[in-house]
Amino acid sequence: MIFEVLSLFPEAFSGFMSSSIVARAIEKQALEVRLTDFRKFTANKHNCVDDYPYGGFAGMVIQAQPLYDALNCLLKSDPAPVIYFTPQGRKLNQKILQDYSGYQRIVLLCGHYKEIDQRIRDLCVSDEISLGDYVLSGGELAAMAFIDGVGRLLPGVLGDIESANSDSFSVPGLGYPCYTRPENFMGLHVPNALTSGNHKKIQEWAVEQAASLTRTRRPDLTK
Ligand code: ADE
Repeated sequence: MIFEVLSLFPEAFSGFMSSSIVARAIEKQALEVRLTDFRKFTANKHNCVDDYPYGGFAGMVIQAQPLYDALNCLLKSDPAPVIYFTPQGRKLNQKILQDYSGYQRIVLLCGHYKEIDQRIRDLCVSDEISLGDYVLSGGELAAMAFIDGVGRLLPGVLGDIESANSDSFSVPGLGYPCYTRPENFMGLHVPNALTSGNHKKIQEWAVEQAASLTRTRRPDLTK
């Protein structure tokens, strides 16, 4: 899977790409992250990418031209979906990550400043995704969340044990509480079911805990 990331801050991805599961996925060649700084596509001598919005509103808007040329360069010989990260998009969830995990190549467009010119959204963007109902300074963190979430679904990236744990949101609902040694920490004991050695009892405990957590914290997931 290839992610083509268009961003004004490609350096923001370096720590992310060299750590943990994403680094492992890149090393295993299950994942490739290609970073393009779309400032390189500006047609003006100051390499300026933003301008004042029509209508006199506050904030700056990223111009259509550098984005259009950068996208054209990436897509002309090899079409791919283009996702733009914005709080106005549909909210990211596990199903969306699963749906995208089947693609070979995806373009991720990260905005900055107030917005990008609407005409890029009209002409070039195939999907708009939000990380949640809050405003970030740009789409980079959302793109990293997306790459991480899709990357760990790719075949061979997670080991068996991690794989089993990742099922949390595949069956809609939250996970169960986890414990490791010692059995007694500051007077708090591991639940009896988990130390019983009885596999059926352990499974029932986990299912009940997950259901109860989901009912109280995320009743929306049970509908
Ligand atoms: N860019 C700025 N805020 C964002 C958000 N909440 N989700 C995705 N991209 C964003």
